[in-house]
Amino acid sequence: MLKVCLAGATGWAGSELARGLATAPDLALVSGVSRSLAGKVLADVLQVPGLAAPLFASASEALSVPCDVFVEYTKPASAKSNIQQALERGVHVVVGTSGLTEQDYAEIDLKARQHQRGVLACGNFALTAVLLQRFAEYAAKHLPNWEIVDYGSGTKVDVPSGTVRELALRLSQVRQPQVTVSPDRAVGPRESRGATVSGTQVHSIRLPGHVLGVDVVYGMPDQTLTLRHQAGSSARPYVDGALLAIRKVSGLVGVHRGLDSVLDL
Ligand SMILES: NC(=O)c1ccc[n+]([C@@H]2O[C@H](COP(=O)([O-])OP(=O)(O)OC[C@H]3O[C@@H](n4cnc5c(N)ncnc54)[C@H](OP(=O)(O)O)[C@@H]3O)[C@@H](O)[C@H]2O)c1
Repeated sequence: MLKVCLAGATGWAGSELARGLATAPDLALVSGVSRSLAGKVLADVLQVPGLAAPLFASASEALSVPCDVFVEYTKPASAKSNIQQALERGVHVVVGTSGLTEQDYAEIDLKARQHQRGVLACGNFALTAVLLQRFAEYAAKHLPNWEIVDYGSGTKVDVPSGTVRELALRLSQVRQPQVTVSPDRAVGPRESRGATVSGTQVHSIRLPGHVLGVDVVYGMPDQTLTLRHQAGSSARPYVDGALLAIRKVSGLVGVHRGLDSVLDL
């Protein structure tokens, strides 16, 4: 039985994962982090009988309950410190929180290797998003020009999304996209050409009505290709992937990015 501590257990994504953990016979949720509901028990907060995990105000308190895997599902501002505390206690980490930078991950990787623990960071646990990553890499081998459109809700503060950061990084490992006119030479506001993320131009849209989506747009003379992933308003698409990551992370050392690093695709 793998013991799991879930930071963000009362949030939109974390509470759905807690419900998923409650039905997994090989996983036990032993503690959770929520500042506003600290002192309560998840069963009462989520109305899920049997979820006896207590809630604590901080990761350091929650980690005082022995566990094998720490899941980070809070906010970018608290994520890095939570992850580092878990690694210092010798606990493997699954990261669902978006907004960590490449520099953050480089520091986390160092700490994970020092403690010989695994960190599996997935900007998006949904199977259709994981497949989009794979298809996009394949297309990038054949199509040299691309840009990304990143869709999020009006209240999503991090830009671009974790999904898009991860995607741009992975495309950069295939090759750098060709750019016909560099954004620095654009006539007009430089921002109109988006941000350069791992070499790719990324255009972030934050509007009510959107939840999370990404288009990878490829262009060649007289032809275009758009790959699109869109998620709806429930957090259900992220549960199965997160459960898989929890089961697999203890076989890893250091930071690994993307669910497909543990999937046989
Ligand atoms: N990887 C994926 O597939 C995926 C899917 C969905 C969302 N996400 C990402 O997951 C993160 C959480 O999203 P969400 O929509 O679930 O957010 P949310 O609904 O606001 O939930 C955040 C959770 O974290 C807790 N929290 C917030 N700040 C904290 C802090 N400083 N210390 C301790 N606990 C804190 C909140 O409880 P209190 O306020 O009571 O502390 C709450 O339980 C975001 O970065 C989002 O982009 C990733």
